[in-house]
Amino acid sequence: MTSYHMELLVSFLVLLVLLLFSSLNVNSSSTSPSKEAHALLNWKDSLHGEATSALSSWVLPPSHVNSSHHCRNWFGISCKAGKVVDINLSNISLAGTLQSFPFSNLPNLNGLNLSFNSLYGAIPVQITELSELQRLDFKQNHLSGSIPSSLCDLRNLNYLSLASNQFSGSIPQEIGNLRNWKLEISCKTRLRTNHLSGSIPSLFGSLQNLTMLYLGENELSGSIPSEIGNLKSLVELELSENHLSSSIPSSFGSLQNLTLLYLYENELSGSIPFRNWKLEISCETMSLYKSSQW
Ligand SMILES: *[C@@H]1O[C@H](CO)[C@@H](O)[C@H](O)[C@H]1NC(C)=O
Ligand SMILES: *[C@@H]1O[C@H](CO)[C@@H](O)[C@H](O)[C@H]1NC(C)=O
Ligand SMILES: *[C@@H]1O[C@H](CO)[C@@H](O)[C@H](O)[C@H]1NC(C)=O
Ligand SMILES: *[C@@H]1O[C@H](CO)[C@@H](O)[C@H](O)[C@H]1NC(C)=O
Ligand SMILES: *[C@@H]1O[C@H](CO)[C@@H](O)[C@H](O)[C@H]1NC(C)=O
Ligand SMILES: *[C@@H]1O[C@H](CO)[C@@H](O)[C@H](O)[C@H]1NC(C)=O
Repeated sequence: MTSYHMELLVSFLVLLVLLLFSSLNVNSSSTSPSKEAHALLNWKDSLHGEATSALSSWVLPPSHVNSSHHCRNWFGISCKAGKVVDINLSNISLAGTLQSFPFSNLPNLNGLNLSFNSLYGAIPVQITELSELQRLDFKQNHLSGSIPSSLCDLRNLNYLSLASNQFSGSIPQEIGNLRNWKLEISCKTRLRTNHLSGSIPSLFGSLQNLTMLYLGENELSGSIPSEIGNLKSLVELELSENHLSSSIPSSFGSLQNLTLLYLYENELSGSIPFRNWKLEISCETMSLYKSSQW
């Protein structure tokens, strides 16, 4: 065998070994369950109570099953092109915290619904890593601490509910950063029944497409910012059961689509800037609702 042939043979062998390795690599990456599945399992392990039985379908597949197993077989998980896009674990007695929730491993998540569970503790600031998030529903849990201002960096959010939790502190001023929200008519912002204090950020006034704003049953004080009158799409506004004082801003008169306004149990005074509205005043309550068209 000439040295030329020898060289050819060696090159051939090297090529063969390289091919073998690369095909092994391809195989191992397609059979191993994805990073997303692992990260979700890590969070599952941190939960306790009945959640474990509700999530009994959340198990790693046998090695021969392909890596999108969690997309097809796991309760509450929906995928698109093998990536998790929606998580709906509403009302399944989840108990635990969000500390090990895989915020940084779910870059394609559009919807996260963890409502009606028993989650407690704070919302980690890492929530900002869910950059594609459009719907976030944490209502009716036992979450506490302050609302992280990083939540306001979620530019695609059009539904946010933090209602019926135990949040405290003030509403982040950065809420006005959400001006680029693609808010549709169905959008709702629910922040009720927490212990939020401080004043209402005037920057709420830049949420031009906001249709529903519920801030009732908190401890908000100060006057109602006149900028709320800029929320031209507003249909329902609830500011009842707070400590708001001063008068109703005259800018409210331009809220043409407003049909429900709850202001009862506050310390408001002055006149009502609406025509054609029916006013009901009882001992402790004041509600306003539209009785005819403008
Ligand atoms: C994984 O399974 C799904 C559904 O059974 C199939 O559509 C997909 O092509 C499979 N992927 C691979 C890499 O085998
Ligand atoms: C979350 O799920 C509940 C049903 O348990 C539903 O009422 C609610 O509208 C859902 N939230 C979102 C944002 O889809
Ligand atoms: C979310 O889950 C709840 C409870 O399992 C269910 O009632 C609801 O229809 C689900 N929502 C969606 C959008 O799948
Ligand atoms: C939660 O589930 C229970 C039954 O498990 C049902 O009675 C209740 O209406 C559900 N709540 C919501 C908000 O979907
Ligand atoms: C409001 O919604 C419209 C239509 O969806 C959109 O074109 C516009 O950019 C939105 N405005 C803001 C400030 O988000
Ligand atoms: C008010 O409501 C009407 C009818 O639903 C809608 O066409 C219009 O765009 C709304 N106005 C604003 C400013 O959202």
